Amino acid sequence: MARVKRIGVLTGGGDCPGLNPAIRAVVMRSVAYGYEVLGIHDGWAGMIRGDTEPLNLENVREIISQGGTVLGTSRTNPLKSEEDKKKVIENFSRLGVDALIAIGGDDTLGVAGKLAREGLPTVGIPKTMDNDVPETDYCIGFDTAVSVAVDALERLKDTARSHHRIMVLEVMGREAGWVALYTGIAGGADWTLIPEVPADLEEMAQNLLSKRQKGRLFGTVVVSEAVHLEGALKEEETGEIDEFGHGRLGARGVGQLVAQEIEKRTGIPAKHAVIGHIQRGGSPVLRDRYYPTRFGISAVDLVHSGEFGKMVALKGEEIEIVEMEKVVGRVKTVPPELYQLAKLLFQ
Ligand code: F6P
Repeated sequence: MARVKRIGVLTGGGDCPGLNPAIRAVVMRSVAYGYEVLGIHDGWAGMIRGDTEPLNLENVREIISQGGTVLGTSRTNPLKSEEDKKKVIENFSRLGVDALIAIGGDDTLGVAGKLAREGLPTVGIPKTMDNDVPETDYCIGFDTAVSVAVDALERLKDTARSHHRIMVLEVMGREAGWVALYTGIAGGADWTLIPEVPADLEEMAQNLLSKRQKGRLFGTVVVSEAVHLEGALKEEETGEIDEFGHGRLGARGVGQLVAQEIEKRTGIPAKHAVIGHIQRGGSPVLRDRYYPTRFGISAVDLVHSGEFGKMVALKGEEIEIVEMEKVVGRVKTVPPELYQLAKLLFQ
């Protein structure tokens, strides 16, 4: 058993609903064990700067319903420079952090995993609206992001129906099509395009046209921001590359391109909407309160039993523990077979 007095907790990468419930649970479980908790501000940037605040029950009791993260976040990569890495390592001892819980996606967890490899006491909690962290069935933020996108799709459907148009909804999700696929299924889209499967625009256009000829005068299409399309910018051409090497996929404009292609190929009027960061805001839905709470508790339990370099995960309905090594540098994408199954719903 590790001799722990103080636990640090940080949130890194893009924010999303569900982070606050996780932070709250980390504090509550820590208090029950008699540990102090230091909230690290702005992800790894706070570990470089030594920028923290003490967290207690009063700070966190009511945050379960709040979107975003009370700790702030950033896309800072402390392993990009030796100097920053040194500051992070020094700050573990200067701040008296005996264990650090990192809540984040592949980038944040990648850093935690690499630090663990060097002997630093880290534990991970998977978070990302993209739902693309491997070795877990669920990532914090995914369910709320999809709920928001489904609501947007239904609103677009109302206006599409009135104007006899096709409305295209562009959603985020990076190289994984989970958000687009689930939005398309749950919102009853006519077609969905995801990055894992080459976009067959002609097949999509013929589908929309044939429905129109049968009397359905409107339609909706969901497109993931990273879908590969001729004429769309490549990720590296989007300007602003972050410290982990990601471009601004929203700048590729695939929603607009798809709407233009539909109009060109079918003659049906088509418009697009980009939901963007709206998907990342708002109060967390049930699963983004319940599972982050379970994750937060289990992460502190890992610390309590001195098991570092591990990540909490959801497999089915059970919390499981996986090696962070298994997660580093990998992305969980949509299996093409699942997309093929979803195509059944494009009829
Ligand atoms: O990784 C989460 C995510 O929302 C992606 O879906 C999106 O491409 C990216 O973050 C946007 O990042 P930022 O908030 O830095 O613009």
